Formats: sequence, C-alpha cells, structure tokens
Amino acid sequence: MTTLRNLLDNNRRWSDRIRRDDPHFFENLAKQQTPKYLWIGCSDSRVPANQIIDLPPGEVFVHRNISNLVLHSDMNCLSVLQFAVDVLKVEHIMITGHYGCGGVKAAMDPKPHGLIDNWLREISGTLERHRAEIDALPEAKRHARLCELNVMQQVDNMAHTTIVREAWDRGQQLEVHGWCYGLEDGLIHDLGIDVAGIGALPGALQAAIARPGPRAT
Ligand code: CO
Repeated sequence: MTTLRNLLDNNRRWSDRIRRDDPHFFENLAKQQTPKYLWIGCSDSRVPANQIIDLPPGEVFVHRNISNLVLHSDMNCLSVLQFAVDVLKVEHIMITGHYGCGGVKAAMDPKPHGLIDNWLREISGTLERHRAEIDALPEAKRHARLCELNVMQQVDNMAHTTIVREAWDRGQQLEVHGWCYGLEDGLIHDLGIDVAGIGALPGALQAAIARPGPRAT
C-alpha cells in the first residue's frame, strides 16, 4: 500500500517551522480570518495562489477551477464569492489566468474532449467573439492572447454578478482585477483592468482589449 507518509512528514516540519517563528501563529489564525483578497485562478498545479503572491495562510481567499472561469450558473464559485464579499468583505478580487493554460488550449482545438467541452464552451465563445484579432496574430501568439482575453471576459462576468453589483450599489469598496501568470518566469502580468464600479467597466474592458498583451505583441 502506498502511504502519504512523506506529505504528513512535510506537514509536521512546515507547522514546526512556522511556530518556531511565531509560537501563536496557528492559535491566532484559528480564531478568525480577515483576508483582503479573493483569488480566482486555474486549478493547474503550477499556479498556487498563496505561493505566487508570497502570502501566508489567512491572507487570501481562494477559488480555483479549470481556466479560472466565473460562470453565472456556477453555485460553487458564486458561493465562494458571496462569502468573500458579504462576510469577509474582501477589497480586491484577482482573476488570474495563466499562459500555457490547458483548458484554453482545449477550447481552441476543434476535436471533442468529452464533458469538459461543456465547461470550456465559455472560452470558445470568447474565441468566436475575438476571432478576427486572434486569426491575425502569428500562430505562436494566439493561445497566449486567448488566455488574456479569457481573463478579461471573466472580469466582465465577475463585475456583472449580483453579488459584486449589490456590493457596489451599497458603496462597499471592492475592486476587480485581471492578471495573467507566466509559467516560464513565475511573473504575473497585469492586464491593466482594475474595475471599482459597474460604470467604469465598459471603458476599462475596451482599453484592456485594445492594448496588445505582454505575450501577444
Ligand atoms: Co490553466
């Protein structure tokens, strides 16, 4: 039988290490969490939220799914969002895509992949809406650009959720951002969308889409 002894040993060493620096770290954290950030990211094992932005436990609330999608029918994502916005009162939501995303790749590939194609339909829609721009790019840049455009679309989706709209309506401070992470260098590329209200959304999206992306120029 394969055991996960190595992982449990890792865990013990990690806990010891943190408590050596701050003996009350876990004790204090167990009482409450007050993260300022909600991270919406891809499930890809190479894109771990806390490590990338170098934040300890307690600092970032996280939801991850294939290709960092925000769908208005996804109860899982919406429930995370509601708790983060209404209860934790996070001030920033980062939609973080990544270059080299397998879900985006599959959405560009016309051959069927089974159930996942239903999920990826969102990205196929974005591809269809930006078909002229994508086709005009050299082939090597098309996938990276769709990774970026997908993030922008998810910022749009996020800003239109009832949860974010209602938070803005009641004057709650909340900003939605679009980022794209590079697997090759470990760096986040800021896509330049920072939306703090529904009125600012169309202009912010238009400007971001018009700006050639860092990997697609
Ligand atoms: Co991915």
